[in-house]
Amino acid sequence: MTQIFAHRGYSALFAENTMSAFIAAEKANADGLELDVQLTKDGEVVVIHDEKVDRTTSGSGFVKDYTFNELRKLNANKKSAKIEPIPSLIQVLEWMQSNQLVCNIELKNNLFPYEGMEEKVIQLVRNYNLMDRIILSSFNHYSIVLCYRIAPEIETAPLFNERIYMPWVYAQSIRAKGIHPKLATITDDIIDGAIKNGIAVRPYTVNKDNDISRLLKINCTALITDDPVKAIKIKQQFEKRP
Ligand code: G3P
Ligand code: CA
Repeated sequence: MTQIFAHRGYSALFAENTMSAFIAAEKANADGLELDVQLTKDGEVVVIHDEKVDRTTSGSGFVKDYTFNELRKLNANKKSAKIEPIPSLIQVLEWMQSNQLVCNIELKNNLFPYEGMEEKVIQLVRNYNLMDRIILSSFNHYSIVLCYRIAPEIETAPLFNERIYMPWVYAQSIRAKGIHPKLATITDDIIDGAIKNGIAVRPYTVNKDNDISRLLKINCTALITDDPVKAIKIKQQFEKRP
C-alpha cells in the first residue's frame, strides 16, 4: 500500500523542517519524512530548505556563511509562538532511534556544490545505523551517483521536474532504486512502468484529494505530501472500500 511521506515534516500545520513538524508527522502515523539539508560554514549538516535563511527563520543571509553555533541562535519557527532552532541532521537521526520512520534526506546541493556533503551525510547515517531507513535524493544527479559510490547500501533516488522518457531505465543506469518526480510530470503509465521494473516511485508534492486518491488507486510506492493527516485519512477510507 502507498506509503505517506511528510514533506518537510507536517508542514501544512507546523513550521517546515523543524523538530515540531517531524514529531507531528510521526504522531500522525506517517510512514516517512522528507527533509532538506545544507552545510554551514564550519561543515555541520543542517536541516533547512533554502540556501538562505531569510524565508523560514528570524535571520538573513546564506546558510553557508553561518557557523553552526550562529545558525542555532535563529528562530526557525515563524508559524507559532514556539521558538525553535534549525535542526541539525544529527538531532533528527538521534530522534529516529525512538521511532520507525523512513527518512528521505534531500541533499540541497544544486546551487552550491557543498564539497564533502555526501560523505558527511552518509557518515552520520552510518553512525546511527540507519542505512535501511534512509533514502538519499537530490536534483543534482552527479551527487546521487557519488552517494551510491560511497554507500551502495543506502537507497538513492533522483529528483526531477521534467517528463523523462522511461525514467526507470535512467534510474537503473545510475543505480538508483527509486525516482522522485514532480507530480505534474508523471502519468499512471510511467508510474506503472517504473514499479514493474523494480523502481520505487514517490511523487512530490501531493496535496489535493483527487491526486492522493489517484496515486492510492494505482498503488504508487509512496507520495510526498505537506498534509500527512489528510493523506492518511483518505488512505484509510480507501482501505475500507469493499
Ligand atoms: O523531495 C521532494 C521535494 O521536496 C523537492 O522539491 O523544492 O520541495 O525541496 P522541494
Ligand atoms: Ca525537498
